Amino acid sequence: MKATQIHQYGDNSVLENVEIPLPKILPNQVLVHLKASSVNPVDYKIRSGFLSGQLNKPFPFTMGWEGAGIITEVGKETNLYNKGDEVMVMPNFMQGGTYAEYVAVNEDEIMPKPKSIHFTEAATLPFSLGTAYTTLIEDADIKKGQKILIHGAGGAVGQMAVQIAKHKGLFVIGTATGEKIQELQDLGIDRVIDYAATDFSTELNDLDVILDLVGGPTLAKSYALVKTGGVIISTTQPPSTSELEKYKISGKMTITRMEANKFNEVIQWVEEGKITVKKPQIYDLSNAREALSAVEKRQSKSKVVFEMD
Ligand SMILES: NC(=O)c1ccc[n+]([C@@H]2O[C@H](COP(=O)([O-])OP(=O)(O)OC[C@H]3O[C@@H](n4cnc5c(N)ncnc54)[C@H](OP(=O)(O)O)[C@@H]3O)[C@@H](O)[C@H]2O)c1
Repeated sequence: MKATQIHQYGDNSVLENVEIPLPKILPNQVLVHLKASSVNPVDYKIRSGFLSGQLNKPFPFTMGWEGAGIITEVGKETNLYNKGDEVMVMPNFMQGGTYAEYVAVNEDEIMPKPKSIHFTEAATLPFSLGTAYTTLIEDADIKKGQKILIHGAGGAVGQMAVQIAKHKGLFVIGTATGEKIQELQDLGIDRVIDYAATDFSTELNDLDVILDLVGGPTLAKSYALVKTGGVIISTTQPPSTSELEKYKISGKMTITRMEANKFNEVIQWVEEGKITVKKPQIYDLSNAREALSAVEKRQSKSKVVFEMD
């Protein structure tokens, strides 16, 4: 099968298009014939070696941690899915392997694909929807009536988080710029602050929840805006313990967790059209270097997806 692998860390020139045998499944895994797979910011963090301390993967390995396709083989110890099922996958970081025509994935790292959307759109969902769900529902424990600020609301995770928070009845504020401001207004967000024009920290206070999808100075300026007892969840770095104590708030860095059936409620919202999935930008797997470069240089207007035959 066709796959894109790396044999060493580095810039995009380390990505190699190769022909390799189909992966062999373990008893707790299924084999998925991928129809589409997605590129995420974490891909270039792994490719560059930035995460090599936490993620000690042996070379060579196939890139990619998200996709959608059809199950062609099921392991002896699996019982949730059958051959022919249409699914979305998010293999754990040690496994990965979705920059390829087939991937072996643990059964609990699969979600059923909503029938209402194509594989190309479905391939963008596990990471974005899964992260938005894990941060908001599990970690921030959001409640109706709360006021939430979402940094990076225009991105893949952000747009899912905005929609989940709105459906849960929160007052939702987001930071974004350019065309993404209108996109967020179309999704029903209550207020957008253009981060390129306005300093959000002079505009807001008394927030119940901040979801930080940006990090750095954006996170540093956020602590003072949360009311006592509130919470900051970041996907990019652990919040500062001293700042959390100073403002009497809680906080953590989320690592997205997959679990069988966990996302059923939000997947149903996609099925019913209550959550809109943005059209991705399509690349061929043979152009993986260009695709990852577009994500790394923030040149893509939406999520980047490889469409497979
Ligand atoms: N810990 C985990 O498990 C986990 C899971 C998923 C994602 N993540 C991380 O979470 C982050 C977001 O992921 P994603 O997939 O949503 O990425 P994405 O699609 O690239 O979105 C990031 C968004 O942030 C915006 N942005 C950049 N600087 C900003 C600023 N100063 N203020 C407000 N918005 C700003 C970008 O806007 P522009 O259009 O201006 O570039 C873009 O819309 C990434 O760092 C990713 O690695 C972590």
